[in-house]
Amino acid sequence: MNRLDVIEALMHKKGLKNYLEIGVENGHIFFRIKSTFKVAVDPKFIFDASRRFGKSILNPYNLNNQYFEKTSDDFFEQEAQQVFASKKVQLALVDGMHEYHFALRDVENTLKYMDDDGVIIMHDCNPQTAGAAGRFENWEVGEWNGDVWKTIIHLRSQRPDLNVFVLDCDQGLGIVTRKKPESTLNFTPTQIEDLTYDDLVRNRTEWLNLKPEGFFYKYFGLQA
Ligand SMILES: C[S@@+](CC[C@H](N)C(=O)[O-])C[C@H]1O[C@@H](n2cnc3c(N)ncnc32)[C@H](O)[C@@H]1O
Repeated sequence: MNRLDVIEALMHKKGLKNYLEIGVENGHIFFRIKSTFKVAVDPKFIFDASRRFGKSILNPYNLNNQYFEKTSDDFFEQEAQQVFASKKVQLALVDGMHEYHFALRDVENTLKYMDDDGVIIMHDCNPQTAGAAGRFENWEVGEWNGDVWKTIIHLRSQRPDLNVFVLDCDQGLGIVTRKKPESTLNFTPTQIEDLTYDDLVRNRTEWLNLKPEGFFYKYFGLQA
C-alpha cells in the first residue's frame, strides 16, 4: 500500500474529492488523481507546460488543476483564502519540506480550510535510519524523511481534537482526522525538539501510533 492507494481509496470509497498536495515535485502522484478540484503547491515544480499538457491527455481531470509555484507558507498567506472560498479541502497530501515545524504549519494551515470529515495524509513519518531522520542540512545520501516524525508526536501531544496514527508502509503515512484521539502523548514542543532518532527507535510503535496497513481499511470502514 502506498500514498496513491490511500488517496484513491478515500476518494472512490468515501467520496472525498477536493484535493490539495503540498510538495508535488514532478507530479508523480498529483497528475494521477481523478478530481475536478486539485491544487498543487511547490516552490519548484519539476515539470513544464508540455508535461502538463501530456498529463491532461492521459487524465483529463488535469485540465482543471490549479498550480501555485511558491512555498506552502506563502500559499497559505497569499492564496488559500480565495482558493478555498467556495470549496474546502477534503483530502490533502502533506509532502513538502520534511521538517518538524514546516510539516506542522502545513497541517495546521490545511486544517483551517478542511471539511470536518476531511483527511490529511502526511508522507515520510517513519524513518528507518538516523541519516534519513535528521535535519536537511545534515543529510548526506539516500532516503531523506526528515523529522516529520516529530510533527506526529507534536499533534498527538498538543491536539486533543485530532486522531493521528501512522500506517507502516510507504515511508510511514501519517493519517490525521478530526476525531477524538484513541490515545495521546504528553510532550511539550521543547521536549519534542530535544528528542533524538535513538529515542524514536526505542518508542516507535507507541509514539507514532504505528499501525499495520490493514488498519486503514478498518478505521475508515472500507473493504480491503
Ligand atoms: C518528496 S517531494 C514531493 C513528492 C510528491 N508529493 C510525490 O508524492 O511524488 C518534496 C517536494 O517538496 C517541495 N518543497 C520543499 N520545500 C517546500 C515548501 N516550503 N513548501 C512546499 N513545498 C516544498 C520540494 O520542492 C519537493 O518538490
